[in-house]
Formats: sequence, C-alpha cells, structure tokens
Amino acid sequence: MIGFVISFIFVLVAILILQQDWVHIAINTTSSTVPPPRLITKDELSLYNGDENSRGLYLAILGQVFDVEKGMKHYGPGGGYHFFAGKDATLAFVTGDFTDPGLTDDVSGLSPAQVVALYDWLAFYHKDYRPVGRLVGRFYGESGEPTEALLKVEAVLEEGKRLKDQAKAENQNLPACNSEWSSARNGRVWCSTKSGGVQRDWAGVPRKLFSPGSGRSRCVCVQNSSRLENVNIREYEGCPPYAESCPVTE
Ligand code: HEM
Repeated sequence: MIGFVISFIFVLVAILILQQDWVHIAINTTSSTVPPPRLITKDELSLYNGDENSRGLYLAILGQVFDVEKGMKHYGPGGGYHFFAGKDATLAFVTGDFTDPGLTDDVSGLSPAQVVALYDWLAFYHKDYRPVGRLVGRFYGESGEPTEALLKVEAVLEEGKRLKDQAKAENQNLPACNSEWSSARNGRVWCSTKSGGVQRDWAGVPRKLFSPGSGRSRCVCVQNSSRLENVNIREYEGCPPYAESCPVTE
C-alpha cells in the first residue's frame, strides 16, 4: 500500500513538473520576438538559381527574397521565367524586357502607375511564396535597413496610389461608354445605367474625352450639360447632342 502511495505521489509530482514545463514553453513561445530578417548578398542569391548544384530556387523583387521552389515549373531550368531565378530583376516585372540589360533592379525611371503594378507583383509573391530574407544592395543596406532608393520608390508608390484613387473617382463621374463594332454596320457607342463597370442611376450621353497632349480620345458617358463646358470633352460628329447612342466610323 505504501509503495502504491509513493508511486502515486511520484507520478503526481512528475505531472506537475511536466505541466510547469509546458507553461514555460507556452510563455516562451508567446513572448518570443520576431527574428531579424535573414540578410542575403547578391553572390549568395545567385547560388539559388535552380541550376544543377544550386542551393535552391530563390528570386528577389524590390530587395525582398522569396523561395520559389514550388514554382519550379516557371523559374527552374527550362521554365519560361527561369531568368528571374537567383537575382533581383525588379524592373523586368513591369517592362517585360527579359534581355540581360532589362533584368535589372534599377527602377528609378518608372512612372507612379508602373510602381503600383510592381507592388502588385510583390503582393503576389507574399501571397503565393515564402519570404526568406532581404537582399543587401539597392533596396536594403548592410544591416537590412531600407535604403534611400527604397524610400524613393515608396514615395512614388504613394503618388501612384493617389493617382489611381483619383482616376477611380473620375471614372465614377465619367464612366466609359458601351461599344460595339461590326464590319457590316460599322460601330456605335452608347450609354446605359451600367457601363465602364459603373452601376448608377443615370445613363448619360456619349462624348469624346481627349487626353491632353496625346490627341487621342475615348468615349465617356456624360451626365449633364455642365460637363460639355470641359474643353477636353467633345460631341460625336453627326450625333444629336442628347442621343444616348452614337454611330462611329473609326
Ligand atoms: C510584363 C510581362 C510579364 C511578366 C513580368 C510575367 C511574369 C510571369 C510570372 C513571374 C509568372 C509565374 C507566376 C507564378 O509564380 O505562379 C507568369 C506566369 C504566366 N504567364 Fe507571364 N508574365 C508576363 C507576360 C505574360 C504574357 C504576355 C503572357 C501571355 C501571352 C503570359 C502568360 C503567362 C502564363 C500563361 C502563366 C502561367 C503559367 C502557368 O500557371 O502554368 N505572361 N508570368
């Protein structure tokens, strides 16, 4: 009986100690801080190009390095996008120039809209692939801190987002027209309560909206006559001013 009581106490104490360990482990896990990002040099990154004897398959965009092993069919040898492997070829993500000089991380000449498109790619890699660290170079310094070049790109990104929001608001006021074209009957543009992806409670009338400087125009639906005072907006020739549909020949 005494033997049983002693072993019972022994088991109880062991359980208590174990539980304390679990608590300890749990506390350690919750209080642990995020480790600093792994810093990768250009030379090291080049060893992750998926070729024979390479260490793995990585690519970088805007100095952020991703493990793209699961996209082997795209980035591995023989894949259509193998040229992105083992390097940071940020510029080519928006230019589509996959030649050697095009495969560079110099994005200083990009427009705000192109930088927005670049960050869409970055978001894609965050969604689909595992981030592994930062590339020391143009966008991150020796200690992993953002460089002036990255801060500049981020400023252009903010401008791009502002312009995009502005364009979206303009699109609500001047939605694109519906259009159709047939070789037999030429074409027509017309307005309805849903056109250009904008659902609204007015249809409007088709007008040509010229983009300043380019001489090119596109069809937009204009809600009221006050818009007609806009110098960049003109009526379609041969179409009654308040017709909801206009024939076009070009
Ligand atoms: C700026 C130009 C372009 C860039 C930077 C680009 C880049 C890429 C990248 C990085 C991938 C792999 C995505 C992943 O990891 O899953 C991809 C996939 C793909 N791209 Fe492109 N691409 C471009 C233009 C095009 C064009 C013009 C076409 C078609 C004519 C095209 C067709 C495809 C297809 C079909 C896939 C998917 C293949 C699959 O899932 O099996 N791409 N592209």
